[in-house]
Amino acid sequence: MRSEQPTTLVREHQTGTATAVAHPNIALIKYWGKSDERLFLPRTDSLSMTLDIFPTTTRVQLTAGTQDTITFNGAPATGEAERRINAFLELVRERAGRTERAVVDTENTVPTGAGLASSASGFAALAVAAAAAYGLDDDPRSLSRLARRGSGSASRSVYGDFAVWHAGTDDLSSYAEPVDAAAGLDPALVVAVVNAGPKEVSSREAMRRTVDTSPLYEPWALSSTDDLTDMRAALGRGDLAAVGEIAERNALGMHATMLAARPAVRYISPASLTVLDSVLQLRRSGVLAYVTMDAGPNVKVLCRRVDADRVAETVRAAASGGAVHIARPGPGARLLDEDTR
Ligand code: DP6
Repeated sequence: MRSEQPTTLVREHQTGTATAVAHPNIALIKYWGKSDERLFLPRTDSLSMTLDIFPTTTRVQLTAGTQDTITFNGAPATGEAERRINAFLELVRERAGRTERAVVDTENTVPTGAGLASSASGFAALAVAAAAAYGLDDDPRSLSRLARRGSGSASRSVYGDFAVWHAGTDDLSSYAEPVDAAAGLDPALVVAVVNAGPKEVSSREAMRRTVDTSPLYEPWALSSTDDLTDMRAALGRGDLAAVGEIAERNALGMHATMLAARPAVRYISPASLTVLDSVLQLRRSGVLAYVTMDAGPNVKVLCRRVDADRVAETVRAAASGGAVHIARPGPGARLLDEDTR
């Protein structure tokens, strides 16, 4: 397939224009809290699985115009989204020592409110496309560091399957890289949408408030280090039960830190708890199924691929009509040949 040509070949033919695709990721060991907001340096390491559903495709074309033109699903980007993409392009220009503005066209396939942050796939796709269009380094580590400056979790979507993001201490040392998992793991992630409405507190603000005010934050950050060590070992031996247990305790611990923030940040809703209960019931009946949750009420359930349909059926009933999606490990971000788009 032409889209699998080496990236250098694609770039040679398309100086100044590049299109990239990236997928969302879900953290099994969470990123929650920054040590440097400007550089997007996290307080702790995190580890995620990239999904095979809901890709974002972004085209960056350099232009002689005097400002960036940003289109999101066919409509001009506005507000915070536009501001963040502009700031990101400024950073790319500064690094490349170039001044041309860009026309950015993004198509995001994540259904609104699916509970899958589109900032991870969005900034991973933008980083890969912008780096190619402006001629920046395109090795995975440089791309991961660049994507991080758009949204922390985007640093991990540069890679397929499992990735660990090393917190690091400065811009150079904070990047993600792939993590090996035993072939026998064969996981699926069932996404249960219990509430598709917008969140009351942005994750950025919630993170800041948690770090600044929650007495549970430091103990969680400390235990997260052990969780990461245990998680890497569990992935290496393909132990889905251990992977699930560690992911669940890490995520629920993160939500506990938020509940203890002042004022509290509460993303878990009664509907989330109903799904959590249904997963507990599944486990009691012998199905390996474990929850994780992010900055919203939707619930993601890690299970074996062979159990995914059964898990989806159970959580669909519990999520009272909310949409349910089944994901498997997906590919890393990559450039597309222009005409394959
Ligand atoms: C709960 O990466 O969206 O999903 O870096 O401020 O853009 P910013 O935050 P973002 O936060 C993700 C938080 C999380 C956990 C995770 O993905 O690790």
